Amino acid sequence: MTTPADYLSEQLQANDLLTPETAMILGSGLGGMTDEMEIELSVPYEDVPTLEASTVEGHAGRFVVGTVGEVSVLGMDGRVHYYETGDMDPIVAPIRALGELGCERLLITNAAGGINADYEPGDVMLIEDHINMQGTNPLIGRAGLGDGPMFPDMTNAYSPDLLAAARDLAADSSLTIHDGGVYAGMPGPSYETPAEIEMLDTVGADAVGMSTVPEVIVANQLGMDVVGMSTITNYAAGVVGDPLSHEEVVETIKTIEDDLRTYVTALLQRFPEL
Ligand code: 6GU
Repeated sequence: MTTPADYLSEQLQANDLLTPETAMILGSGLGGMTDEMEIELSVPYEDVPTLEASTVEGHAGRFVVGTVGEVSVLGMDGRVHYYETGDMDPIVAPIRALGELGCERLLITNAAGGINADYEPGDVMLIEDHINMQGTNPLIGRAGLGDGPMFPDMTNAYSPDLLAAARDLAADSSLTIHDGGVYAGMPGPSYETPAEIEMLDTVGADAVGMSTVPEVIVANQLGMDVVGMSTITNYAAGVVGDPLSHEEVVETIKTIEDDLRTYVTALLQRFPEL
């Protein structure tokens, strides 16, 4: 059977391309990163055997291979959220493909609500660690499938070396970049109640969102180095008292998109030395 990795490998070879060392998930706020890329190959998810194509949000998604500045990258343009399918497999199947293909690093971005009192909408938080509050784990039920270790160590789930590089570059950015925080991954799709945010604050979360955790677990199982960052799009419920809206999330993303792209581009240029 042709696996997603086999298929991507064939497509790369047919286009005389090597597997990029770096993969990135173009999450909320970084979709425009493809404009920054010299795209050499685009593979719609629906063309890849066994990958689930469509999402509730309606944009099917694709893998894009190309260069950002001097660096070759494989981007996932479009991702699936747990709340869309109630199933972890479609979320992490593309990550397994990247790992099997030989990508060594994964850069992840997301949109999140700010819990830490120092965070304001429009800030960026480098992710130092996460708390899985999604109530399940993408590795459950896959014993004997040969993915990798059944019990992956998560001590350095976010690579300290990549985080150090991201911190180094933060000073050059016009964005306010918080140099390390804890991301709580919730199932969604409703936002949290103020009481839930108070609980997350108590257990040490700085920001809250609905993605990233499953992908980071699988990336670690496959031995990839991960670097992650959250765009703080709004205050989490009860932090200032205003109601939350998806419109606010979208609006905030627009205001920082260009600067985030510039920052990520600079960070990617450092990767070959790491
Ligand atoms: Cl406040 N919560 C969650 N779960 N996801 C978010 C968010 C909040 N703000 C943006 N995404």
